[in-house]
Amino acid sequence: MTAQIIDGVEISKKLRADYSNRVTQLKAKGITPGLAVVIVGKNSASQVYVRNKHKACQDIGMHSEVHELNEHATEAMLLQFVEGLNNNSAIHGILVQLPLPSHIDEEKVIELIKPEKDVDGFHPYNVGRLMIGEPTMRSCTPYGVMKMFEHENIKLEGKEAVVIGRSNIVGKPMALMLMAEGATVTICHSKTRDLAAHTKRADIIVAAVGKLNMLKADMVKPGAVVIDVGMNRTPEGKLAGDVDYANVKEIASHITPVPGGVGPMTITMLLGNTLAAAELGSGRNN
Ligand code: GUN
Repeated sequence: MTAQIIDGVEISKKLRADYSNRVTQLKAKGITPGLAVVIVGKNSASQVYVRNKHKACQDIGMHSEVHELNEHATEAMLLQFVEGLNNNSAIHGILVQLPLPSHIDEEKVIELIKPEKDVDGFHPYNVGRLMIGEPTMRSCTPYGVMKMFEHENIKLEGKEAVVIGRSNIVGKPMALMLMAEGATVTICHSKTRDLAAHTKRADIIVAAVGKLNMLKADMVKPGAVVIDVGMNRTPEGKLAGDVDYANVKEIASHITPVPGGVGPMTITMLLGNTLAAAELGSGRNN
């Protein structure tokens, strides 16, 4: 069996068309959804991500502004900058690009962002609401994966799901979202004793480790759904995921490619979160 490929570019196109219509409707009411992205220093990978986010906003008619602070900007300067964006009624979503230089406390910065403008879903308030199953701003990558399941009509209730990776940005929120949909979830990580024993009994596998070709075909149950969140470089310099794609696609029922899988969905959900924030009135100053 060759797996069905879950095409993140195609799903993104559909979602973004819907978002674009909703932006038009908001504009008719005098509201232009606005995203502010803040980047500190000159991390080249971050600069590429930020450029892509900016362009994606513009493509659907949203306002986007990118603020580049010099690498020597102090924590106090960044906090003051974020406070300004919190109080700016033209800005509905704030994203501070991570990683920040080591002299800045990331947690302190994230906690200052108004939760209703926290389009990354990183603020402890939003993380807490996700934990207790309340509507909230969700971390973009796992949220994008959930949209992929929905689009492909992959049912999660009662399924065995294994998430590999326990990061705050992907692994942990992914597990919570899967659990909220009725999956039985196992989180594996670098200290897991026998990873294959877990993955081999999984109906759904989400790999979010950052290790090239880590998930091999003999670790996957025939017919499993395999989602690859990894973004690695091959020795030849090509972009590739955590999954040994060529071999796992012969075993799985569904698989996401890298590139063209989860990656585009992450930016799509950032647009969705910013739009939702604007629709919910995050720009109001009260
Ligand atoms: N750096 C890499 N990915 C992300 C992301 O999704 N959000 C932020 N804020 N920084 C990142």
